Amino acid sequence: MSAVLNDPIPTGRPEPKPGVLAIEAYVPGKSHAPGVEKVFKLSSNETPLGPSEKAVAAFAEAGLKLEDYPDGSARALREAIAKANGLDPERIICGAGSDEILNLVTHTYVGAGDEVIYSEHGFLVYKIATLAAGGVPVVAKERDLTADVDALLALVTPKTRLVFLANPNNPTGTYLPFDEVKRLHAGLPSNVLLVLDAAYAEYVRRNDYETGLELALSTENVLMTRTFSKIHGLAALRIGWAVGPAHVIDAMNRIRGPFNMNTPALLAGAAAIADAAHVEKSVAHNSKWLPWLTGKIEALGLKVTPSVANFLLIHFPEEPGRTAKEADAFLMRRGLVLRQVASYGLPNALRMTVGTEEANELVVAALTEFMAGGAAGTTKGPTKGPAK
Ligand SMILES: Cc1ncc(COP(=O)(O)O)c(C=O)c1O
Repeated sequence: MSAVLNDPIPTGRPEPKPGVLAIEAYVPGKSHAPGVEKVFKLSSNETPLGPSEKAVAAFAEAGLKLEDYPDGSARALREAIAKANGLDPERIICGAGSDEILNLVTHTYVGAGDEVIYSEHGFLVYKIATLAAGGVPVVAKERDLTADVDALLALVTPKTRLVFLANPNNPTGTYLPFDEVKRLHAGLPSNVLLVLDAAYAEYVRRNDYETGLELALSTENVLMTRTFSKIHGLAALRIGWAVGPAHVIDAMNRIRGPFNMNTPALLAGAAAIADAAHVEKSVAHNSKWLPWLTGKIEALGLKVTPSVANFLLIHFPEEPGRTAKEADAFLMRRGLVLRQVASYGLPNALRMTVGTEEANELVVAALTEFMAGGAAGTTKGPTKGPAK
């Protein structure tokens, strides 16, 4: 006691714990284009079709009773997710977006000095969550903008606690076939948790792709995360979920906020996942427009990374007048809001979400003009489309 009393009183201001100030805060996709009335937001991989009408009705209904706390166990939502996927609801945890799930799993397993591996152009939240937990981000090189299993495995050390893999990955749109995911899992020590982030799974139309559900159900060290923000069109409500081994779900539930989901989200999410027809409509839209956009943009002489998701990564030359930054400004003046991805180590690319027919056609028309005239066209102002 006296030792404490005799200690000098610390001075200075409160300091965040190590790691926190190393975080570059996440910058979301822009949603406005200055001076433009009609904006097409193609910057955050939201669906152009919106949510299921049934989800909207459930949301409205929930608004009639806001005085009670939500069901902290998210039972109705977990049961709806379980039914749609043939799962045991006890193996599911829900969160305020899969962002919360990714943070929860990191804070559950990672402490000061622990290592977390992810790939070079992996989703930014992995780095933020790792640093926030005091962990050490360990970044594996990619091959052709695709995660490289050998490179990921080569970085495993006794300090490794988690490996994150977005499959398909944002912002590249590339994916690993299931055989490769299984090889990654097989190469990891059993005490390392593999987190398979399948935010865009519903869009993928490849025979060799799997979400990772099978591994999450049959092993002790795989967690698969999903979201309602993309194909279900409920990004505003913040709904994500994960399925994994009972011991992982149990540990995460211990640090989860008791009421981390709100009632409108719980009810709208349950209605959305039951509306398979709406999901199919969104998949059909994407399957039509993703190849159309890829073909049209490549025909302009721009490289497009082959994507299996609901967005595409467009690479621009470094030549002045035709850079990604200039293209972004050119499109922005026309109300076409794409995403710069320099923070992902891709300064010469823009990421575009597949939009409505109107938005997709306007982007192709604007890029055609941009490539023909370079940024010189920017001084002309809008010649087409939504800008007024
Ligand atoms: C790969 C990936 N994972 C997770 C998320 C987070 O989604 P949400 O928190 O909206 O569920 C995103 C969102 O962009 C993403 O691209």
